[in-house]
Amino acid sequence: MENTIWTEKYRPKDFSDIKGQKEIVKRVKAFVKQKNMPHLLFSGPAGTGKTSLALVISKKLFGDSWHENILELNASDERGIDVVRNKVKDFARTRAIGDVPFKIIYLDESDALTKEAQQALRRTMENYTRTCRFILSCNYSSKIIDPIQSRCAIFRFKFLSKKEIIEIIEGIVKSESLKISEKAKEALYEISNGDCRRMENILQSCAALSNEITEELIYSMSSVARPKEIKEVLETALKNRFKDARNKLLDIMLEYGLSGFDVIKQIQKEILNLDIEPRKKMFLIDKCGEIEFRMVEGSDEFLQLEALLSQVTLTGIKKED
Ligand SMILES: Nc1ncnc2c1ncn2[C@@H]1O[C@H](COP(=O)(O)OP(=O)(O)OP(=O)(O)O)[C@@H](O)[C@H]1O
Ligand SMILES: [Mg+2]
Repeated sequence: MENTIWTEKYRPKDFSDIKGQKEIVKRVKAFVKQKNMPHLLFSGPAGTGKTSLALVISKKLFGDSWHENILELNASDERGIDVVRNKVKDFARTRAIGDVPFKIIYLDESDALTKEAQQALRRTMENYTRTCRFILSCNYSSKIIDPIQSRCAIFRFKFLSKKEIIEIIEGIVKSESLKISEKAKEALYEISNGDCRRMENILQSCAALSNEITEELIYSMSSVARPKEIKEVLETALKNRFKDARNKLLDIMLEYGLSGFDVIKQIQKEILNLDIEPRKKMFLIDKCGEIEFRMVEGSDEFLQLEALLSQVTLTGIKKED
């Protein structure tokens, strides 16, 4: 058996391997061609190709010596801006190898830095502009201070579409000689929601158990209940069978090993599919938000989920407002 992680094994090696993000890839390619680029800010959800694109840029610019010319740092690992600053200083001391006039510093999770740390980062960026280009990666560009944003070309990554995710699934399935049903592909997309890393991790853990990938296997590996089961819980509550609904929900949570957070997100999604008046849906979705917030604040998850189910039950009893 192999022991490579698929997210590394299937990391895009060239621009053409990066699915989606078409406009971004096009603009970045132009920078690479000119061997010149501004600082870049990659913003967007997890598992959509930010790190991958930064590595491709480095490979394309520096060829065989790409490894020596990119410094990868993680803002949330590095325990403060001082560590980042010292590492940058060391790295920037020597010039880039070859005919590119700069080296690349990739700073992951830049939005984990405090405002003060970002101010310090901004000064570091200014100090080393002659020899280095920064590629900052974050989930939310709104958490990055304006002076940094204005120094960067900003690229907003999007979740991969269903078609793109399925193309990637099919590529992996072929290369790993797996069998997969159409339903299983759909399930993988539903669960990953366009996060390609999550999709690859679930697929790999399924493949470790069987080379026949089924919908059941996927749900059992993914901390997600089958949408149908969550819907059944809600429908049971709507029929004024609170206790049954509560027990069923507990069973599902135990079976799939779900946390309250996992469940509340799924419940929220399924409320939209219920056969009730739009106003009642809105009411319940609003409740989900409230319940999730209480969980974040540390309230007991089961207690909160029961409170939500009681609201669903009451919604079912109420005929008209
Ligand atoms: N656009 C994409 N095209 C093809 N594969 C992708 C794409 N995005 C992600 N992947 C796959 O998912 C893995 C993880 O992606 P990557 O590390 O680039 O995500 P990221 O956007 O940097 O996420 P994070 O914000 O969590 O750091 C890659 O190694 C690759 O296998
Ligand atoms: Mg990344």
